[in-house]
Amino acid sequence: MYIRSIELENFRNYRRLDLEVEPSVNVFFGANAQGKTNIIEAIYLCTSTHSHRTSKDQELITHGEHDYKVKLKLTSSYNAYDESVSVIYTDGTNKNGDLSPSKKAKKTVFHDDVPYEKMSEYFGIFNAVIFAPEDLMLIKEGPSVRRKYLNVLLSQVKPMYFHELTTFARLLMNRNRIIKNARIKNSKVMDSALKEELSIWSEPMARAAARIIRDRYIFSLRIDAFARKHHESISHSSETLFVKYKTCVPVDMLENFNEEKVVEYLYQKWNDSVEDDFQHGITNFGPQRDDLLMSLDGDGLRMFASQGQQRSAALSMKLAELDVVREETKDSPVLLLDDVFGELDAQRRRCLLSEIGDAQIFITCTDKSFIEQELVDSMQENSKIAFFEVVKGAVTRV
Ligand SMILES: Nc1ncnc2c1ncn2[C@@H]1O[C@H](COP(=O)(O)OP(=O)(O)OP(=O)(O)O)[C@@H](O)[C@H]1O
Ligand SMILES: [Mg+2]
Repeated sequence: MYIRSIELENFRNYRRLDLEVEPSVNVFFGANAQGKTNIIEAIYLCTSTHSHRTSKDQELITHGEHDYKVKLKLTSSYNAYDESVSVIYTDGTNKNGDLSPSKKAKKTVFHDDVPYEKMSEYFGIFNAVIFAPEDLMLIKEGPSVRRKYLNVLLSQVKPMYFHELTTFARLLMNRNRIIKNARIKNSKVMDSALKEELSIWSEPMARAAARIIRDRYIFSLRIDAFARKHHESISHSSETLFVKYKTCVPVDMLENFNEEKVVEYLYQKWNDSVEDDFQHGITNFGPQRDDLLMSLDGDGLRMFASQGQQRSAALSMKLAELDVVREETKDSPVLLLDDVFGELDAQRRRCLLSEIGDAQIFITCTDKSFIEQELVDSMQENSKIAFFEVVKGAVTRV
C-alpha cells in the first residue's frame, strides 16, 4: 500500500496542505522548525490514531483553530484500488474559544469517508512504521514505552488484540475506581460486599488479560529473533541482543499456554490480592505492569549499554517491528524516517537502507545533499526520488 496524496487542514503549522507524493522515496528537507516532522506525524496519526510525539490532540491543532483534519489517499498493492483514510479531531470549543454546551472534544477516523465506530475495526487498514529520534526512549525509559511499542505493533497486525486491550483497560479502570471510592468511604477495612463486587470484575478482566498476555508472549518471541538478527548485522556480530517478555504469569504457564488455566490463575491472584490492592488504592497485579527486558550478552541495556549500543538496539527493535508487520500483512508498510540520517552513523544508516526493499518511504533531513548518494546507492532501479522543500509550513517540490 502506498500514499498518493496528503491533505492537511489546521494541522500544526499547516493551515492547508494538498500534496501529491511518489510511490517510492519522498525526501522532505529544510531548516529546523519548518514543519518536516509535522508531515511525518500526520501520516503516522493515520496508522495508530495517535501522534508519536504527544498524547494531546489539542497540541496538533493549528494555534487559534478548533479542529484538524488529516487525509491520505492510498493505493492498495493487492488490487491497485484507490482508498482513503482520514482522522478528524474537534476540540469541542466554538469559534470564540468558549466550550459550547452541545459539543465535546471528539476524534473520528474514516476509511473511504465512512466513519469507524470501533477503533479495533480501523486498525490495520493503513500500516506505517516510524523511525524517529524518540525510538531511543524504547531503551532509556520505563516499561510503559515498551508496552506502547507492543500495543501499537500488535494492534496493527491483530485487530482483536486492540479489542482485548481496550476491554481490559476499561475493566481495570472500573476496578480501580471501585477501590478508590470504597477507600474514601472507609479507608481502614473492606467489607465482604466490596470483595464480592471486585471478584465479579475480576472474571472478564482475567479473560481479556490472558489473551493480551498470550499475544504479547507469542509476538515477543518473534521480535526477539528479528531484533537479534538485525543487531548482529549492525554490530558486526560482536554482541548478542536478547528481548524477553516480562509478565505476571509464570514462565511455564506462558510456554505451555492454556487460556483457561491462565484465566483461573489471574482470577485467583486478583481475589487473593484484594486486601493488598485496597490498602494501596490500586490494582497492582496484571499485564498493566508488563515489560520487555532487553539485554546485550546478559547485561541490561538500560543500565549498562553505551549510547551507541543503545541506539543500535533501538534501531534493531524498530527493524523487528518492520519485519513483523511485513510478515503478518504480507505487504510493506510505509516507512517514515524522521531525522534518522542525522542521528545514525553510516553503518547504521546502511543497515536501515538495506531493509527498505520496495516500501514507500518518507524521509526528513535538514541537508538533502547529505543523503542523496546513499539513497541512490540503496534504491532499486527505476525508483524515483522526489524532493520537497519545507519552509514555514509550505511545501514545494523541487
Ligand atoms: N499547534 C501548532 N500550531 C502552529 N504551529 C505549530 C503547532 N505545533 C507546532 N508548530 C510549529 O511547527 C514547527 C515545528 O515543526 P516540526 O517539528 O515539523 O519541525 P521540523 O521541520 O521537523 O524541524 P527539525 O529540523 O528541528 O526537526 C515550529 O515552528 C512550531 O512552532
Ligand atoms: Mg523534525
